[in-house]
Amino acid sequence: MEITFPKIASYEGWAHPMRTESTVDGLELVAGHVPEGLNGTWYRCGADRQFPPMNGEDIFIDGEGMMFMFRFEDGHVSYRNRWVRTPRFELQEKHRRSLFGRYRNRYTADPLAAETSPGTANTSMLWHAGRLMALKEDDLPFEVDPDTLETRAKTDLDGQVAALSLSAHPKVDWVTGELLTYSYQAKGDYTRDFAIYIFNPDGSLKHEVWFDAPWANVVHDFAITETHIVIPFFPLCTPDIDGLKAGRTFYEWHDDKPTKIAVIPRYGSADEIRWFEGPTSSAGHMMNAVTDGTPEGTKVHLDLCLYDGNCFPFFKSPDGREFPPVPPVLTRITMDLARNDDSYETRPLIPVPCEMPRTDDRWQGRDYTHGWTIMYRGGDGTSTLGRVNVKTGALEVWEHGEKIAVQEPQFVPRAPDAKEGDGWILSILNRLDKGHSEIGIFDALDLAKGPVARLHLPVRVRATFHGVWVPDEVRASGRYQMEAVA
Ligand SMILES: [Fe+2]
Repeated sequence: MEITFPKIASYEGWAHPMRTESTVDGLELVAGHVPEGLNGTWYRCGADRQFPPMNGEDIFIDGEGMMFMFRFEDGHVSYRNRWVRTPRFELQEKHRRSLFGRYRNRYTADPLAAETSPGTANTSMLWHAGRLMALKEDDLPFEVDPDTLETRAKTDLDGQVAALSLSAHPKVDWVTGELLTYSYQAKGDYTRDFAIYIFNPDGSLKHEVWFDAPWANVVHDFAITETHIVIPFFPLCTPDIDGLKAGRTFYEWHDDKPTKIAVIPRYGSADEIRWFEGPTSSAGHMMNAVTDGTPEGTKVHLDLCLYDGNCFPFFKSPDGREFPPVPPVLTRITMDLARNDDSYETRPLIPVPCEMPRTDDRWQGRDYTHGWTIMYRGGDGTSTLGRVNVKTGALEVWEHGEKIAVQEPQFVPRAPDAKEGDGWILSILNRLDKGHSEIGIFDALDLAKGPVARLHLPVRVRATFHGVWVPDEVRASGRYQMEAVA
């Protein structure tokens, strides 16, 4: 059968499906020098298209998982990318065509796929308790070989996870070594069951909570503090089973519903959840959260890229109304647990649109200063990196003037005990006019001076969503467990 991809915007230019597995032993240095001491492995994951979509339509969050690995060894940087060989991937490989229809709507799949999970593992990577995993919120994690990226198998973490899926935005607490994650629609499509899981550094289950979500909606990300877990519920909701069977999209935007946020003590029970409510809004990504004056503080701050409307405009309302794109604004939502009402306050942190916010992960949940994001400007598809000081609102930006779009920044600490922000930022640079990628390495606290090193990739890294840095000592020991640093 001939392979022909439809002429749709999501496949134009840089976004054309790449569909290629590569190995490069030693990327070419084209500017600067790889910093001494930058040793470890950077894993990332994104979506690519194995075969043309069944129904001629696509959205950027769909497609098979493609993993990427950059291993830094004393200036030598090796590169490898491999598909996540999910049951869906292998079934499609066998039949040489796409077998799954609309995004996550299993009722639009080919009958050949009736018994196969639609999970794609296309969103992020996780390292915990000596395991590397590829993640997507529609299924359980897939364990992967940390040296070859060979897919091993789907895992319920040694039988400890009864939920049918786990989030692609887990939080690993670099200080306690715990893994905190969750599942929404945890008992299957259109269920309101929500589960929180906390694992010890050795991978054993420490704590588990189940409760009912306000709706069967998407919960793409959450946040942790030293004392709380914060879970926002935005009204991108799944139709009921009859609606899914009728072929409706997996999510629909309910502009008549509010935003709801659950705050629960870190090791609390379902009856300890405090619910807060605010205007209709949405967000994909949290930057961080902090409980003021830990451990006795009552104010919980949630910093996130908040959309004053629908963050995924390709999902319409249940009655078919469309919603214009709105910019993501880095915003601090503050909830006061001591107050008797359920409202919250919001305030923008910077006035420039940004997305894919990250921190020095040693400060996830802790009183922090620095965040790094992708900054958008103009309409020419270029973007750059920014650093925001959340305490002062100061913004530092890499002004490159080149036809470059950047991918999500990754912070790498200079040493396990380095101060917050002392280290490097890694980013995949899309050379839009050259058709290939580069790795940019930046001084994390001096983005403005530009990359301290650029490495040439002889291929195009089409799109990665998220990733994780695994220092050599963490890969050797299997666990993150660092001293708290001031
Ligand atoms: Fe995400």
